[in-house]
Order: sequence, then structure tokens, then C-alpha cells
Amino acid sequence: VTYSINNALEATVTSAIAEVQSWISDRVFPPDSPLLDVSQAVPSYPPATELREHLAQVVLRNDVSVYTEIGGLVVLRQALAEHFNEQYGGGIDPSQVTITTGCNQAFCVAISGLAQSGDEVILSLPYYFNHHMWLTMNGLRPVLLPSEEGQFPYPDPDQACSSITSRTRAIVLISPNNPTGAIYPSGLIDAFFELAREHGLALILDETYKDFRCASGPPHGLFQRSDWQQTLVQLYSFSKGYSLAGYRVGSLICGHALKNQIEKVLDCATICPSRIGQEAAWFGLRNLGGWRDAKARLMSERLKILESAVEDGQSGYEIASAGAYFAYLRHPFANETSLSVARRLADRHNVLCVPGGLFGPRQERYLRFAFANLDASQIPPLVQRLRDSEE
Ligand SMILES: Cc1ncc(COP(=O)(O)O)c(C=O)c1O
Repeated sequence: VTYSINNALEATVTSAIAEVQSWISDRVFPPDSPLLDVSQAVPSYPPATELREHLAQVVLRNDVSVYTEIGGLVVLRQALAEHFNEQYGGGIDPSQVTITTGCNQAFCVAISGLAQSGDEVILSLPYYFNHHMWLTMNGLRPVLLPSEEGQFPYPDPDQACSSITSRTRAIVLISPNNPTGAIYPSGLIDAFFELAREHGLALILDETYKDFRCASGPPHGLFQRSDWQQTLVQLYSFSKGYSLAGYRVGSLICGHALKNQIEKVLDCATICPSRIGQEAAWFGLRNLGGWRDAKARLMSERLKILESAVEDGQSGYEIASAGAYFAYLRHPFANETSLSVARRLADRHNVLCVPGGLFGPRQERYLRFAFANLDASQIPPLVQRLRDSEE
């Protein structure tokens, strides 16, 4: 080409999921060994039938093809504030809610609102690769926690404290975590909030997988604090809990000072989130609480099946961490990279998982399994194939 290309983009890795999926793009799988795809987190079931029937009517309406407010439909923001206030016992006002084109966009605009090139953002290891990519392509420096190999499932606030510099702008936490599945105790989330507050930083909390917690009680008490909006930037996705990934709806809850700036970015980038996606999300919030909770129970049953299959399997694979949606497994091949193990699982055993190395440094002994993609009956065969990979 005759033009130059942004070298910060050239220096950023290619999409991890696209790379992994390219391994099988021209493969045909035999009926006796179908592909078990536990790479990208995509629920194996479609959205609720009622929701789809509702949308079939909605598309006939004339108002569905026009833009909405930049930050999303007012009724959806109200319903989301109500939902979080009910689940988290908080005092969120609908004016503090922004609807985005998926949770990835919520993260991108949150970072754009908080930091500039040269600033630092603390991510915990293993990180969610898209968070890392967005920072590097924008000239921001990701500071990674922790530094010890295999130190999870929880990041350490003391370690985070010693990583803060005058350039730090935010600390990012994901709970339930991708890739480890770990559900952070509310006391740990509180400790990170305090740390961020004391240092004048934002705590960005990505709760994409919150709907897969089976525990009763709120995931954390931050929204109950009268000062939450001074520090907390909370992100959520409709992709997983309502199985709406392709509809592209997520949300961001924060104080007005940040929200006003973020709206400028959203206006330029997307003008508004997809209207039909917003209609789907609104219907889900109003009508599908029971459906959503039943799916969470289904996922926790799948986890139990996985745990007992791995434990009984006498295989060299161990569950290093598991919980909501994901299991992070330690593989038995000490002298092999995670990429090579994952590639072999794909090529020879028809199992597509994500190598730990794509979630950051010192993750070579690990593989991420989005086990919740599979039906319960597919989990024992998955574990059998892992065992076969050791022969
Ligand atoms: C932690 C985390 N955040 C955000 C996303 C993206 O969600 P969305 O589909 O709403 O953009 C994912 C999807 O895998 C994720 O794992």
C-alpha cells in the first residue's frame, strides 16, 4: 500500500479467538468424533423462545429502524438500573447507566474516558486478551498482576498497591473471571475499591458472567455505598446470560463526569447501540429472570460433571481454577507451550480450547475451556479425549 498503517495496531497481537478458530476452518469432523468447541464462550442454547417471538413482532414496527439516544433507550436504562438495584441492593440512577454495543465496547469507551497515551492500567493475570489489546493499540501501558506463576484464582490488592505509579489511571477486575472462572469474594472486590479510591483511580469491574453465579446475595456491596460513583465503573454484557452475543448489547454504569465524556466517543463510534439488540435486552430484563437463573443452574451442573470427570479420570490434567462458565486447566506437558498442546488437541483430538499463553505471560502450563458451551453429555467425552492426548 502507499499509505502508512498505525504502528501501534501493527504491534498489537491478532485476535486470539480468530487465530484458534482458523485451526479448524477447513476441517470436516467425523460423526464418531465431532468437534468439541470450548474456545469462544458462546452458550450452546439459543435465546428464549418468548424473546425471539417478541422480536419477530418488534421488527414489524416502524420505530425499530431509527436511531435511539446515544446511551440507549431510556426504558432499557431504567430497567437495567432497577435490575442492578434489586440484585446488588444499590442506589443506581438510570442516568448513570449507558447501553453499549456489547461489553467490549463498554470497556473501550471506559478506557478512552479515563486514560491517554502513556498512562498505565493495571490488569490481573491471566488477562482477558481484548482488554490487553485495546490498551496496547492506544499507547497505554498494561501493568500485569500478579508476577508469580500460577498465582490465582485471586489477584492481590497489596501487589496492586505496589504497582501504582503517578501514571496509573485504573485497575481492571473481571468477576466471575475470564479465563479462570473464579468468582471473587465480595471482600476482595471491596479491598480493590478501597485501594482505587485511596489513590484516585477508577476501578473497572467487568461482570459479563455475573448471571452464571449460583450464590444468593449480591456479588459485592459496592453499589450500596453512597460514594460508589466516585470510583466504580461497572461493565456488563447481555451476550452470555441471555444468549444474545450476536445482538451486541452491553452496559456501563458510572458517575456523570465520566459518562458525559464517554457519550462523545459513543456518538462518533456507533451513534447508538443496535435498536433490535436493545429491544431484546429490555425484554430479557423484564421477562426472563427465571430463564436466566435456570441456565445458571444448568451451568453449575455442567461444572460438577466436569470436576468429577477430571478427578475420576486419572489424567495428568488438573483444574487450576473453575467456576462460572470457564475452567482453567493445567496440562501435563511441562516442556511444551500451551499453543502447541492446544494445537495438538485440535488436530488430533477434535477439541478446540484456548491456550493459556494468549492470556498473558507465564500461562504456558494452562488451557482455557469454556466448558459451559457443551451439553452435559459431551463433557465426559471431552475429558476422555484429554486423557487420550497423554498417550
Ligand atoms: C470478560 C469479558 N468481557 C467482555 C466480553 C465481551 O462481551 P460482549 O459480547 O458483550 O462484547 C467477554 C466475552 O467473551 C468477556 O469474556
